[in-house]
Amino acid sequence: MKKILITGGAGYIGSHTAVELINSGFEPIIIDDFSNSQEKVLDRLEEITGKAITCYQGDCADRSLLDQVAKDHQLSGVIHFAAFKAVGESTELPLKYYRNNLVSLIEIMEFMRDHQIQDLVFSSSCTVYGQPDVLPVTEATPRKDAESPYGNTKKVCEDMLVDFVKSKPGIRVISLRYFNPVGAHPSGKIGELPQGKPNNLVPFVTQTAAGIREKLTVFGDDYDTPDGSCVRDFIHVMDLADAHVKALAYLDEKENNFYDVFNVGTGKGDTVLQVIKTFEEVTDVKLNYEIGPRRPGDVVKIWADTQKINEVLGWYPKYSLADSMRDSWNWQKGL
Ligand code: UD1
Repeated sequence: MKKILITGGAGYIGSHTAVELINSGFEPIIIDDFSNSQEKVLDRLEEITGKAITCYQGDCADRSLLDQVAKDHQLSGVIHFAAFKAVGESTELPLKYYRNNLVSLIEIMEFMRDHQIQDLVFSSSCTVYGQPDVLPVTEATPRKDAESPYGNTKKVCEDMLVDFVKSKPGIRVISLRYFNPVGAHPSGKIGELPQGKPNNLVPFVTQTAAGIREKLTVFGDDYDTPDGSCVRDFIHVMDLADAHVKALAYLDEKENNFYDVFNVGTGKGDTVLQVIKTFEEVTDVKLNYEIGPRRPGDVVKIWADTQKINEVLGWYPKYSLADSMRDSWNWQKGL
């Protein structure tokens, strides 16, 4: 059974990917410092998969910890999720973001180089496209100046990976550019666990429906979109998890020095107001929301062209927006 190191494996996307890895015959080895996740996720993973989960608590930028993991396990690849991702905070504390997101990737690359670990899947983001001129965005769409330090860390990480692959024979890397991950495991046992007030739309929706937040504010309804609210490509986290497994399998077929990027979205744009409507229809819960001012730095509309990932990785999304809303609500109710 191939062992894959997953940094941030107790986090939202990492935990769902751990499930899909196990379902596909891999053994995930998790590193997580629980700075934005909880230890009980590990028990939940064991309940879902029926397998014992190996986890090292600590910082994935701690080289001695990484070396210890490599001593204990023969690793055949890495999926590097661990990173900070709050756009607003990154504008206030840019160095915190540059230090964490860049240094951890540098440590991971040096670790792979020194231990002859060939394969890496990296969590990138559609944020690298900025405010796109043409929609949908393909992987060939030029990247724009980042709107935030967070966004810039993803761009710089992608660039570092390109240079790393060129410099070291045998290294094979895929960057997955995530669109907007939503939903939860259909069992309701794992899902997104934001600390404090959520920044992202769907956790805010479910917490408002649950009465934890008084009301949801829709950030702007006067954009040039079908109903005036922003458009995003909402991808179910289980589909996103599956893309990582497919990416690993694809890397395994590659000869040498390989780097590529793939969009991971549904190929369909939905507005913020459509998300609210779908949530209300699927759950039968009325959401208390109001229209507020635009959020500074928001991209007006973005959705993915998914032809490349469909054709090259054979990956297609299986879940709809309605499925995502049902699963997010199911998870929230469990909390
Ligand atoms: C942002 C980043 C994305 C990053 C992600 C991680 C940009 C352009 N996008 O996604 O790269 O990976 O955060 O956190 O930097 N909304 C409301 N009310 C709310 C919350 C959100 O109306 O209370 C709206 C937003 O204005 C936006 C949409 O919902 O139009 C989605 O927002 P959000 O979930 O924060 O994700 P992004 O901004 O798309």
